[in-house]
Amino acid sequence: MPHIISSIEDLRRLAHRRVPRMFYEYADSGSWTEGTYRRNQSDFERILLRQRVAKDIGVRSLRTSMAGTPVSMPIALAPTGLTGMQHADGEILAARAAAAFGVPFTLSTMSICSIEDVAQNAERPFWFQLYVFRDRAFVNRLIERAKAAQCEALVLTLDLQVLGVRHKDVRNGLSAPPRMTARNVIDIARRPRWWTGMLGTRRHTFGNIVGHVDGVADTGSLSEWISKQFDPCLNWDDVARIRDQWGGKFIVKGIMDAEDARYAAGLGVDAIVVSNHGGRQLDGAPSSIAALPKVVEAVAGRTEVWMDSGIRSGQDVLKAIALGAQGTMIGRPFLYGLGAMGQAGVTRCLEILRDELDRTLGFCGHRDIRQVGREVLIDFA
Ligand code: FNR
Repeated sequence: MPHIISSIEDLRRLAHRRVPRMFYEYADSGSWTEGTYRRNQSDFERILLRQRVAKDIGVRSLRTSMAGTPVSMPIALAPTGLTGMQHADGEILAARAAAAFGVPFTLSTMSICSIEDVAQNAERPFWFQLYVFRDRAFVNRLIERAKAAQCEALVLTLDLQVLGVRHKDVRNGLSAPPRMTARNVIDIARRPRWWTGMLGTRRHTFGNIVGHVDGVADTGSLSEWISKQFDPCLNWDDVARIRDQWGGKFIVKGIMDAEDARYAAGLGVDAIVVSNHGGRQLDGAPSSIAALPKVVEAVAGRTEVWMDSGIRSGQDVLKAIALGAQGTMIGRPFLYGLGAMGQAGVTRCLEILRDELDRTLGFCGHRDIRQVGREVLIDFA
């Protein structure tokens, strides 16, 4: 019987069945108590929308732009590591689905498919997300590779100077490719769609790193290299240097504080992403949606402000826009789609969000997403 998929939750449930436990739980978890992870969604639920009627909402538009890129709706795919482990060739499939839909795809530094691979196999320029490693020569090479691949924007992630602990990853012994322990073999054997896909691709480990760093050849040396590489000494001077080296559209991600936002705006960035990394880093932090209004106020229109973390519906997107975000990013929703049904699942995810956003725009008495402000919220107007 075909699966009926009418919500992001339907995609999550199907991904849970089809993706090996290690990778499903890597996506569907937060750090430590997962308090911030849960708050990202529950805070959205507390914000109420204001229904309007008899406003002639016959023709509606979700079109807008994000950092100058025209988008069919204000949603970009967030950078996510190991996406090619949710489904074979995951980054390429997600990039294709995004391109067909007219929304941006962001390739993570920690992707399975490399920058060059995605550039060759996806139709449209994509964005590249950069982590700053201690090995600055490698960081410089990554920037140059992203330029050579004609990535449209660089998204610099700032909230990973130290790593949050996800207990499920520790328990599962997360690695790419997965180690063939008895537990993993039994788990993977039960997911034939997943492993037949993996048998059909050569992309099984971190494509941007393996083969590009001396001494990193196998899973053991790779995980040791990665664990030592995130640079705790990163500072605003580094950010300015990277901005200059890149020379194109420059977005900073992982800002939760008004003072940091002012600093970033002063550097002339093209957009700031208010994000707590989907609740995967600082547990005990507020939700991103709760942090958004203060950042919008601090930046005072000097740069675009976007947000991510906790979006699971078009209603959530409208709430973020109403609180001053010009765009949003989604992580897990598209990963669930990918794990559930490959490229078709990412497309389905985007269709669901578009339909929900379009109808909700209408319910709130608006025709154009660009006109939406706090008037669509109860108690926030
Ligand atoms: C992430 N995120 C992330 N961010 C980043 O800048 N680089 C990365 O490599 C990753 N990797 C990653 C893996 C997985 C499995 C998840 C779920 C998330 C964070 C991501 O870009 C985004 O901020 C969150 O996913 C947004 O929250 P939601 O939409 O997942 O709730």
